[in-house]
Amino acid sequence: MISLTDEQRLIQETAREFVDNEVVPKARDSDRAQRFDPELARRVGEMGYLGAPVAEEYGGRDLDYFTYGLIVEEIGRGDSAMRTVVSVVTSLVCSSIVRWGSEEQKQQWLPGLCTGETLGCFGLTEPDTGSDASNLKTRAEKVDGGWRINGGKMWISLGNYAKLAMIFAQTDPEKKHKGLACFLVPTDADGFSSQEIHGKLGLKGSDTAELSLDGVEVPDSALMGQVGDGFKIAMSALDSGRYSVAAGCVGICQGSLDASVAYAKERTQFNRPIASFQLVQEMIADMVVQTEAARGLVWRAGWLKDQGKPSTTETSIAKLYATEAAVNCADRAIQVHGGSGYVDDHPVERYWRDARVTTLYEGTSQIQKLIIGRAYTGINALIP
Ligand code: CAA
Repeated sequence: MISLTDEQRLIQETAREFVDNEVVPKARDSDRAQRFDPELARRVGEMGYLGAPVAEEYGGRDLDYFTYGLIVEEIGRGDSAMRTVVSVVTSLVCSSIVRWGSEEQKQQWLPGLCTGETLGCFGLTEPDTGSDASNLKTRAEKVDGGWRINGGKMWISLGNYAKLAMIFAQTDPEKKHKGLACFLVPTDADGFSSQEIHGKLGLKGSDTAELSLDGVEVPDSALMGQVGDGFKIAMSALDSGRYSVAAGCVGICQGSLDASVAYAKERTQFNRPIASFQLVQEMIADMVVQTEAARGLVWRAGWLKDQGKPSTTETSIAKLYATEAAVNCADRAIQVHGGSGYVDDHPVERYWRDARVTTLYEGTSQIQKLIIGRAYTGINALIP
């Protein structure tokens, strides 16, 4: 039986209170206004939730990954738009700089990222490059004392607000994934621009951008790791990012369940609370099982990370299961709420719209299945 330590419980309760008091009250309005709330993102940073696993000397809280997952679950229950900020800034950007950055890069970027003063974004995906992540068209060309980058990035969370962009680019197409490099690019560099993407199904309170790099020049000191490390940096970032998406989805499952139980006990039909009907209880039982199973898989992945053991497959298992469970639990929650679940007086329709992207971004469910299938069979089904 896994149980939380007193410290973990306290951190979980503090995050729960913060989310109920400061995140939940704003979630519907941000969603309706389709507006990213940078002040709230800053508050999330002030609470220490953006750099939670980063060492204190760089401005973080030095928490283990398991405890970080507890915080992300609570934020995911409150608002996936804010959970996306945590996932991108902490799991994709900070974790990469911690693992691959030079001392100078750590000192330059981590303190601002941890407080939320500096938002970061993760520039991997391109208009023609999604699942086939190594096939990048963005090019980095060596120039005197640095690099010139040309290309475009797509679906980049926080891209319009980030001061720092991790940009993945190809330095030598013949080398395929071994030619990729990752650069820490200040977004105020000449030639860097962003455009907001409109018309999303969900995550309307989150910022999503298309980035353009038109002859952006960066010094040699902007290269993270070595030329050729780019693909490994992207994959290790996603090991951490997928964990946080999964943890956030446990929050959506729990939120769907909580809202459904409350509503089913209060709503009466046929002179009885609808919670007394077996078919309603079946939906609630399904949500309970999926929530608990998703949480167990996330906790296992977090525990493995904290032990320093390989966790790529277990993270994919957690991401696959928790994201599909979130879509399903939110869908069942709308069903329990009936017509009331179809409007935004209750959080369940937002949960459903926000959950939908989680089976797409940071690796689709199909990519997670191929990673799991390859690990268990030893056969790479990705090669045509
Ligand atoms: N950590 C470190 N290194 C890793 C790794 C990991 N988890 N996984 C693979 N690598 C290394 C391998 O060791 C290998 O190294 P060598 O060349 O030295 O042998 C190299 O990377 C290539 O590995 P693979 O053969 O496994 O690579 P692949 O081409 O088979 O990978 C894939 C295919 C798994 C499908 C990968 O391309 C993938 O995950 N695609 C999905 C991309 C994705 O998730 N995109 C999401 C975009 S980000 C986003 O959504 C952000 C946002 O804003 C929210």
